[in-house]
Amino acid sequence: MDRTEAVAPLTRPGPAAPGSADPAAPVITLRGAALAYGDRVLWRDLDLDVRPGEFLAVLGPNGSGKTSLLRVLLGRQPLTAGSLTVLGRTPRRGSRHIGYIPQQKSLPAHTMLRARDLVQLGMEGHRWGLSLAPGTIRHRVDELLASVGATPYADVPVGRLSGGEQQRVRIAQALATDPRILLCDEPLVSLDLQHQRTVTTLVDRRRRSADTAVVFVTHEINPVLGLVDRVLYLARGGFRIGTTDEVMTSSTLSQLYGTHVDVVRVRGRIVVVGAPDAATVHVHAGGANGGGRP
Ligand SMILES: Nc1ncnc2c1ncn2[C@@H]1O[C@H](COP(=O)(O)OP(=O)(O)OP(=O)(O)O)[C@@H](O)[C@H]1O
Ligand SMILES: [Mg+2]
Repeated sequence: MDRTEAVAPLTRPGPAAPGSADPAAPVITLRGAALAYGDRVLWRDLDLDVRPGEFLAVLGPNGSGKTSLLRVLLGRQPLTAGSLTVLGRTPRRGSRHIGYIPQQKSLPAHTMLRARDLVQLGMEGHRWGLSLAPGTIRHRVDELLASVGATPYADVPVGRLSGGEQQRVRIAQALATDPRILLCDEPLVSLDLQHQRTVTTLVDRRRRSADTAVVFVTHEINPVLGLVDRVLYLARGGFRIGTTDEVMTSSTLSQLYGTHVDVVRVRGRIVVVGAPDAATVHVHAGGANGGGRP
């Protein structure tokens, strides 16, 4: 079922970003942004605009600052330098305009929470949800569960669901407030190819039907290769941003990693060979490896 139909009663034409009348105005704007923990620079000099409906894949080795970037966008982590606006203003925690699928921690096996409870929590965590009548909430939860194909296990405790089933419920939860930005932190981890496809299709459908911008952190670009508008690749305190063809090349990644990396295309897949695991470098003022476009 198409989600546009599924949520029609509660879907409003999204207001333009506060302070902007342009519906195509960027929903996320970073300028000269840096994040460091102590002397450890995760990324810096980051200029980025994300537009409505755009699919931005965020790649990079463990510890390169992908989750930290999402936390910055959520208003949970301040930038070390530079500026950020989300929907035209400084991000604040708990905005209903941002849906978030956190990096997977499997749900405790003994939890009594059912799939529908989790989705309802996604609505009630916001004042917006609390203002709705119980019947409306129930209807909306049913629609959300149906939109991700989770109706058959709506009343099953989530701890008993498979990884792929749990992930569908987490997507429904993240969409509960009809967000204009969807932040996904490695939602494909531990899913088989079929379930990976289900998740990417659900996310892609959402951005196409509602113009929701998607920031999608992933270790593997191949499952999202056909969907990605741009790639932000973080490594060693720097970054590269551009289309897949611009970023996923031997020369761009070799430059970023500071060592020879081969990017090979085999049967429509991209294979990166030789990328070191070290994600960041410890630097002192001025010594970091800056970022930039390829
Ligand atoms: N609050 C914090 N204080 C200090 N260091 C932190 C803090 N949060 C994260 N870090 C460190 O910053 C680095 C980047 O963390 P982050 O979780 O953003 O990486 P990541 O790219 O998401 O990695 P992974 O692929 O493993 O999920 C890590 O080394 C982490 O230990
Ligand atoms: Mg992470």
